[in-house]
Amino acid sequence: MTEEERLSLLKWAEKDMRDRGKLTIIGNKREHYILNEGDPTVLPIIWDIRNRIIQREGLSFYRREPILRDFLAYIPTGGYIHKHTDRNEKELIHSRFNVFIQVPENDMTTYYANKKVDTKECCYVLSRSGLDEHYTDINKTEKARVIISYGFLLPFQKLQELSFNIKLKGQYNRGNILDETERLTLKNWVLTNMMEKARAIDHNRFDYTMKKEDPDIHPLVWVIKERLFKREGIEEYLCVEGKWPRDFLGIVPNGANIPKHRDQDDPPLHQIRFNVFIQLPKEGCYTYYANIQVDAVEGSYVLCRSSVDEHWTTVNQESLERISLSFGLMLPASKIDSLTSDTTKGTYLNYPLSK
Ligand SMILES: [Fe+2]
Ligand SMILES: [Fe+2]
Repeated sequence: MTEEERLSLLKWAEKDMRDRGKLTIIGNKREHYILNEGDPTVLPIIWDIRNRIIQREGLSFYRREPILRDFLAYIPTGGYIHKHTDRNEKELIHSRFNVFIQVPENDMTTYYANKKVDTKECCYVLSRSGLDEHYTDINKTEKARVIISYGFLLPFQKLQELSFNIKLKGQYNRGNILDETERLTLKNWVLTNMMEKARAIDHNRFDYTMKKEDPDIHPLVWVIKERLFKREGIEEYLCVEGKWPRDFLGIVPNGANIPKHRDQDDPPLHQIRFNVFIQLPKEGCYTYYANIQVDAVEGSYVLCRSSVDEHWTTVNQESLERISLSFGLMLPASKIDSLTSDTTKGTYLNYPLSK
């Protein structure tokens, strides 16, 4: 927010709200006002700022926190926040985006999980309020600490993405397998011929089983499969018919996700999948295997131990679909371990299957 916006919010908080007795005292000398939409005393810019955060952090698909909601917090001289965490709702975590309107200088430090928070006027921070204990020192200055806090309920993996903002370089990525012309050819084939054919399954995803004899499947798909199996040194499995898991085209449109799941296991064989990324949204639809974010890159492929490791994606927050080809096979544990034992690459998994 601009300095001008900050000053108008500060004036509103002090003159229009506090001086007129609208704030509620809630313990430790803190003062508080719940911000409800439709309340004429709330400055419209408060909702503008919330929308900016929603846009920037990709929150439009997530629920507002329903108990503490959004609020103005005013901590005058002598006030402080005691050590606490806030209530979660089942597996959804109480998360807060706190915007600093006024920060007392050189005093009243804020802590999240025992770490000092870099509180700057006009800026905001993310507090994992349902996970991390948070508190402040006592305000010994003349200046009040004034913040606007926006609450959301977020799934753990979304919160993790926002907190760490990391993509582990190379994690699970086995390298480029398509050149750009091939990728665009496959993308256009899917978008023009396959969207209607792909059948709807749960969570608004689509998929389409790819069979060799199906004339709708672009022949390039089988060229890529052969290239991939050769590169992995498993070409002897190319011609195996019968009990193998299917190959499929996967499409995850806007608003959809792949829920947490494992594929069918058949000990002593386990299902693995080589997934080739044709198109990836930039915002959301991040892929996770066994709680680790996959370094998914268009044109490259990954190996998922899909009957062993839980896998999922977060919600696709863009209009672009996530499009991938998935080639499945059943292998013994020792073979899977040998495919994932290169310690110099993201392809290494430090928990082998065979003892
Ligand atoms: Fe809190
Ligand atoms: Fe799966």
